[in-house]
Formats: sequence, C-alpha cells, structure tokens
Amino acid sequence: MRILVIGGGGREHALVWKLAQSPRVEKIYVAPGNPGMSAIAECISLPLGDWEKVAVFALEQKIDLTVVGPEAPLVEGIADVFKKHGLAIFGPTAAAAAIEGSKAFSKELMHKYNIPTAFFKICNDIATAKAYIREKGAPIVVKADGLAAGKGVVVAMTEAEALAAIDDIMGNHKFGQAGAHVVIEEFMEGEEASLLAFTDGNTIVPMVAAQDHKRINDGDEGPNTGGMGAYAPAPVLTPELKQKCVETILKPTIAALKAEGCIYSGCLYAGLMIKGSDIKVVEFNARFGDPETQVVLPLLSSDLAEIMLACAQGSLKEEMVSWYDKTAVCVVMASGGYPADYHKGLVIEGLETAGALEDVVVFHAGTKEETGNVVTDGGRVLGVTAVDATLAQSKTKAYNAVEKIHFDKAHYRKDIAWRALK
Ligand code: AMP
Ligand code: GLY
Repeated sequence: MRILVIGGGGREHALVWKLAQSPRVEKIYVAPGNPGMSAIAECISLPLGDWEKVAVFALEQKIDLTVVGPEAPLVEGIADVFKKHGLAIFGPTAAAAAIEGSKAFSKELMHKYNIPTAFFKICNDIATAKAYIREKGAPIVVKADGLAAGKGVVVAMTEAEALAAIDDIMGNHKFGQAGAHVVIEEFMEGEEASLLAFTDGNTIVPMVAAQDHKRINDGDEGPNTGGMGAYAPAPVLTPELKQKCVETILKPTIAALKAEGCIYSGCLYAGLMIKGSDIKVVEFNARFGDPETQVVLPLLSSDLAEIMLACAQGSLKEEMVSWYDKTAVCVVMASGGYPADYHKGLVIEGLETAGALEDVVVFHAGTKEETGNVVTDGGRVLGVTAVDATLAQSKTKAYNAVEKIHFDKAHYRKDIAWRALK
C-alpha cells in the first residue's frame, strides 16, 4: 500500500510510526511531516489547503490511502475532494466533520437524538447570550461555535468571567467568524476521558480509553494547553462504562449522522465527562486526539493500515481491531513559556539515547532540522511514550527517558497518569 499522511505533529508521527509497521505498507509520504518521521516516511511539501492539487499528487503517486491528522483539512472538505477523484481517504467529509467544526451542530445533533450531554443554549447575539448567563448564573461554560485551535472554550467560575467571554468572542471577534455564534452550557463535574473509535459509517469499534492532561502544571493547575501528556487505558472508563458509552453515545452518534444524510468514516473522538455511572459528551472531534494517539496506537496489536483502509472502504469488522494487554504513558516536553510565548530553534540533545531505550518511542511534535541538529520549533516539542505492563511501570520508564533529553528551558509535567495512580 502507498500511503499519504497529512499533518506534522506528534499525533501524525504516531500514525506514521504505526502505519510503517504494517507489512502491507510499502511507502509513506507525509505532508509536511517532521524530522522524527524522516527515517520511516518521505516528508514532502504540498500546497495544503488547495485540496484539488493535493488530490492530483495522490493520483499521480498512485496513493492507495490518505490519512488526515488535523481537523482543519477535514472541515475544509479534503475528504469530499478525494472521494470525488475516487481516492480512498481516512477521515470524514466536511458535512460529517461539522461534529467538530461546529459546536452548535454537534449539540443540536446530540439533543435531537438523545445522546447524553450538558444542557445548552445556542446564542446568535450578545444580548441573548448575556441574558441567558444572568439567568443561569455561574459556574457556566461558554464555547465559540467554530474551530478556535482548542482555545474557544471558557469554563467560567463567575458570572463576570462568562460575560467577559461573550464580549471577547462576540464583541471583539477574538476567534473571527468562529465566534459568530456561541454555545452556552451547563458546567459538568466529574472526571474526563477520551474514547476514540474507528468507524466506516456503519460499524464502530472503540479503541482503548485514554486520559489527556490539558493544564500546563502538575495537579491540573495553570492555563489550558493542547495537552501535556496522556495515558491509556484510563481505568475511569471501566469495561461496563465503556460498553455503556458504545451503546448510548458512539453507536447512536454514527446512526444520527447517517439519518442526517452523512456517512461518517474515520476516527470519531468522544470527549467524555464521567461521574459515577453517568457519562456525558463534552465534545466530539472528527480526528485522532493529540497526545491521546501517542498512547493508544502503541497498544494496538493489529494492522493499522488494514483497519484504516476498511474504514475508508466501508468494510470495517470488529475482529480487525485488537489490543495488547499493556499500558502506555506519554509525557509531553514543551518549550519554556508555552502556552504563551516561547523560543524556537533551541538544540535538542539526547534523542538517540532516549529513543534507544526498550519500549520507548520519542514522538516529535514541534521540531525541525537546522544545520545538522534537531531544534525546537513549537510549543509542544516532543511526546515521550513508554509501554509496560502497568501504568506505574510505564510512567517510570517514560520519565527515565525524558531525563535523557535536554533543551534549554524544557518544561514537562511530573505527574502524568496521577488520577489512575493516586
Ligand atoms: P472542549 O473544547 O469542548 O473539549 O472543551 C475544552 C475543555 O473544557 C474540556 O476538555 C473540559 O475540560 C472543559 N469543558 C468543556 N465543556 C465543559 C462543561 N460543560 N463542563 C465542564 N467542563 C467543560
Ligand atoms: N487532546 C485533545 C485533543 O486532541 O483535542
């Protein structure tokens, strides 16, 4: 199989790493990719955004399967363009990707089909939004409708914070058109987990549950980030709860989308809030999670290329997907200052030593090559993943690897997996 992967972060490195293990895969192109992938894939520059041109590349190179990492290309309609050209693609069409691209669409879908989620109201103007916040009081959650690079959600502990969020999003257009509408919703308590699933639009097969660590500092303190680490399986989603999630959330969502006229194929990511035996959807994403992918895929014992092709072709079967009875922990090493301003271009040392450790993979997220060195090139720089029998062992192994890697002002959390190990 000849494969094209779109994206260049830690998630895409994990996708490429797992795809490269398939005996069926003969060649992987990745656009734009990063230095971590260059030994197993050919990193290429393509006019990302001009999906017709990218489809022409895929046709010329006889690509059998295209795998899309980030959400933006999906929401822009890369899958629609590829399908029009008869190209197999892992990832939903624009209409189906609206489940991530528009929070209003996603909430209305859940409401219409009785999929459990927080109470909400969609507001199209400032006065209505503010009146609703004053009526409900705090805590309350304000969300920009459209894509806002993970920054469009304000969990407001006071009414004043929520009102200020409305001014920012709707008054000052902080996220442009993405904030033309807002979803205001009930604050949910509980523990979060991410359940990703493979689907061809009819059959849906869950992966192992993972837990992300969104805050920058230990103990879940400080500002939100893209994710500072993850582990899997997340014991908060017990086998019973996972089954409940499949029956009450995953299957009904795929059926709901089908009833609305869109066949959703690719990875459906359900962000969940769990409290006792109660599970509600926090959000859906139309793609793999980052850094969840860096802990989920190392636990997959089956052939990822075969599963993804089956998702794209509508022939997914439950028995195609199996897992190692192990655990994985990923520690994200970030640039000092992240998620605010940070330096780029700092030389990274120790990558080979850490990567040579048994059952350790160093996934590159924000790196580039400069005069023979690998240097930092983003906020989240590396995702250091270790696999072992228990979460405690995986954690020890991951931190042992992290200590071998150095760059100026590197910052990482010391407590990844704390909820499972407390
Ligand atoms: P989202 O982008 O919708 O996943 O929101 C980002 C983060 O905000 C989530 O991972 C939660 O930690 C938090 N969050 C979102 N919605 C709610 C809610 N209704 N109640 C409590 N926390 C929430
Ligand atoms: N880890 C959160 C996300 O991928 O959206």
